[in-house]
Amino acid sequence: MNILLLGSGGREHAFAWKLSQSSHCTQLYIAPGNAGTSQCGENVDLKVTDFEGIKRFCIEHQIEMVVVGPEEPLVKGIYDYFKNDPAIEPIPVIGPSKEGAALEGSKAFAKAFMQRHGIPTASYREFDVSNFEEGLDYLRSHPIPIVLKADGLAAGKGVIICQNPVEATAEFELMIQESKFGDAGKKVVVEEFLSGIELSVFVLTDGEHYVLLPEAKDYKRIFEEDQGPNTGGMGAISPVPFADDDFMKKVIKRIVDPTIKGLEKEHIDYSGFIFLGLIKVGDDPYVIEYNCRMGDPETESVLPRLKNDLVELLRAVVEKRLDSVKIETDPRKAVTIVAVSGGYPGSYEKGFLIDGLDVVQEEDGIVFHAGTRSDGDQIVTNGGRVLAVTSFGGSLKEAADKSRAILEIVEFEGMHFRSDIGYEFF
Ligand code: AMP
Ligand code: GLY
Repeated sequence: MNILLLGSGGREHAFAWKLSQSSHCTQLYIAPGNAGTSQCGENVDLKVTDFEGIKRFCIEHQIEMVVVGPEEPLVKGIYDYFKNDPAIEPIPVIGPSKEGAALEGSKAFAKAFMQRHGIPTASYREFDVSNFEEGLDYLRSHPIPIVLKADGLAAGKGVIICQNPVEATAEFELMIQESKFGDAGKKVVVEEFLSGIELSVFVLTDGEHYVLLPEAKDYKRIFEEDQGPNTGGMGAISPVPFADDDFMKKVIKRIVDPTIKGLEKEHIDYSGFIFLGLIKVGDDPYVIEYNCRMGDPETESVLPRLKNDLVELLRAVVEKRLDSVKIETDPRKAVTIVAVSGGYPGSYEKGFLIDGLDVVQEEDGIVFHAGTRSDGDQIVTNGGRVLAVTSFGGSLKEAADKSRAILEIVEFEGMHFRSDIGYEFF
């Protein structure tokens, strides 16, 4: 089977690594990919939102499956673009329809969906320019902290947790009246603050049935002990120690089942991944957010623990027979540590040589590339998150030590990583 994978981050290198291990994968193309994905298949110079270019490529290269890594093409309707064009309609796209992707693309849509289906989530109100004054009154009278969320995609920056009403009203004004997050923030979801510990649960669905992949936890803050600004993710662990059987039963009964049934009942065409961003409050799970794709860097911890053949799994999605699939998981613990450019998540330079990559052996750990590119026969930095190193261990501590040891070997100018990924569970 010829497969086209869309995306260019650490998540996509992990996908490419796993897909290329399948005997069903004849030729793997990655658009646009990075220096790591080019070791698993052939990179193609196409943007993930260039639907016409992707169509032409699929026809010319007899692509038989498109796997979508990031949310943007899904939220922009790549699934529907294929479905509505007879020339490419038979090519399955792993990912939801535009309507399904609105679970991530519109916070207001996701909240209303959860409310309709009795799925536990923080209580909320929705405001825009039409009820702006009412919103200000609501913010002034609401207990703090309070959470403001831009409705649309805002590159992971659209959530603001406000510690006092002055900050809340100022941010609210900036979002609605000054378009702080562009059109994405013209509608604002104002949400009750939930206090607890977060985890990421991954569902793969064919629209009728579903399987759960290993759960994970990511570490969003730039500095140790979760200090400093938010990033795209500085590391991940899998499994998550507090996601025990009792807790996961609640997740399935209260969140996963009603989500899949809700999508079906509302005739929302959804096949592919659902990433549940959950928070455990007391002993109970609540949904913080839905994403219509896998997480990054969680994927770099999750896919190495998945024993199933990924192409077979995705075929079962296309053929709507996920009920016949059993997920097999490596019982070992995985810890992923992300190495980022100096200055990230603020401004940073690119183009620094990455040294030591050829010294790392796969039995020590896997070095997934995120923001990298080839420059002649060298590999150089090309983004904020540069590498995601995953190792296994009998304990999370052992796995973390191994990933850290690799990052003592690999280096580039300005490199920073968190040495405490998984620390609460050591
Ligand atoms: P989101 O983009 O919706 O995942 O939000 C980004 C981060 O903000 C989440 O991972 C949480 O850490 C935090 N967050 C979002 N909503 C809430 C909430 N209602 N209560 C507490 N923290 C939240
Ligand atoms: N790690 C969080 C995300 O992928 O959105």
